[in-house]
Amino acid sequence: MTRVKAAIVGAGLIAGKKHIPAFMKHRSKVELTALCDLNQEGARKLATEFGVPRVYADIGEMIEKEKPDLVDICTPPQTHVRLAIEAMKRGCHVLIEKPMALTVAECDQIVDAAHEYGVKVCVGHSDLFYYPFMEARELVAKGTIGELRGMRIFLSTPTNYMTSQENHWAHKLPGGVIGESGPHIVYMTLAFINPVRRVSVDALKILDFPWSKYDDYRINLIGDKAACSVTLSYTTDQWAARVDLMGSTGILSLDLEGMYLVNSRRPTLKAVPVALSILSESGQIVQNLMAKGMRLAAGKYDNTHDIIVSRFVDAIANDTPSPVSAEEGREAVRVLNMIVDKLQQNEQLNHETMGA
Ligand SMILES: NC(=O)c1ccc[n+]([C@@H]2O[C@H](COP(=O)([O-])OP(=O)(O)OC[C@H]3O[C@@H](n4cnc5c(N)ncnc54)[C@H](O)[C@@H]3O)[C@@H](O)[C@H]2O)c1
Repeated sequence: MTRVKAAIVGAGLIAGKKHIPAFMKHRSKVELTALCDLNQEGARKLATEFGVPRVYADIGEMIEKEKPDLVDICTPPQTHVRLAIEAMKRGCHVLIEKPMALTVAECDQIVDAAHEYGVKVCVGHSDLFYYPFMEARELVAKGTIGELRGMRIFLSTPTNYMTSQENHWAHKLPGGVIGESGPHIVYMTLAFINPVRRVSVDALKILDFPWSKYDDYRINLIGDKAACSVTLSYTTDQWAARVDLMGSTGILSLDLEGMYLVNSRRPTLKAVPVALSILSESGQIVQNLMAKGMRLAAGKYDNTHDIIVSRFVDAIANDTPSPVSAEEGREAVRVLNMIVDKLQQNEQLNHETMGA
């Protein structure tokens, strides 16, 4: 079987930490031949570290010379639409990091280009591929917790990841750093509550970094039969990615980075059943951690980007649907922009109230 040929645009943080290692891990079916970055020094460093043969500064030249089947776009969101179309019009399939683009109109351009040039798009909605998240989708679909009645997400990104960095591109996104990590909470919600009809949001600025618009967001995403409440925090030195799914007959609690899922049932507050449910929850955590340890020991542990890269390469090789379609990417951008619009309306209202 011939290997899919891939090249990456944007040799920064996520390329070095997740995308290049994922291509290397799956080298039996995909060959990463080049990196492209405006920052040549950084790109050369990564290429040397991972043994990627060639480095370019211009995407057009890279595609011309490398003729890749797949171009993986790992640049800031402001550049996604231009680079994606540049690759698609030369016949390349594209993997685009989240958010797919900045606006719905830009997403439409990507969707249209994919149809026009007959290529596939995959959006980097990576959190969908955490093992506990994939398992939760299966359990909810099977009715294990009855009917889904609501959802809660808590994401914490350490302050030094973006917030304290004056020159981070995320501060220039509409709504501030929510433009960077907000897509995660939106597409995770859409996996269970779709469509999202309306949103509410409150944003706080707790820390004294003048370039950072907000560092604490409280968001509600409201669907027809269920809603999701979100806390998105950038004010501590902690990482957290937790999801709770409340069903009519049970609750699933997921720690995505901790890699465990707890299925709890507490229909009574009597002491003995509560104690038994706590024992069962603790046992499930231990079991999940042992399963992770065994996967790691057997070399069978795939992180979220390993899975998304592998599935997209398979989709290209077998001409099957992309694991995350351009339409899904577009819907996530539409909902994210509802949140940003709401923030702007709140600002306007506050401004008018202060002026009155
Ligand atoms: N899925 C996830 O968990 C996850 C995590 C982090 C970042 N991301 C996404 O990945 C993307 C990149 O984020 P990052 O943190 O790696 O950013 P980064 O700033 O570390 O890296 C971006 C790189 O792109 C390069 N670049 C910018 N414009 C370019 C152009 N026109 N041509 C070639 N190179 C260009 C920059 O020089 C830089 O090296 C963003 O869309 C971000 O939201 C996703």
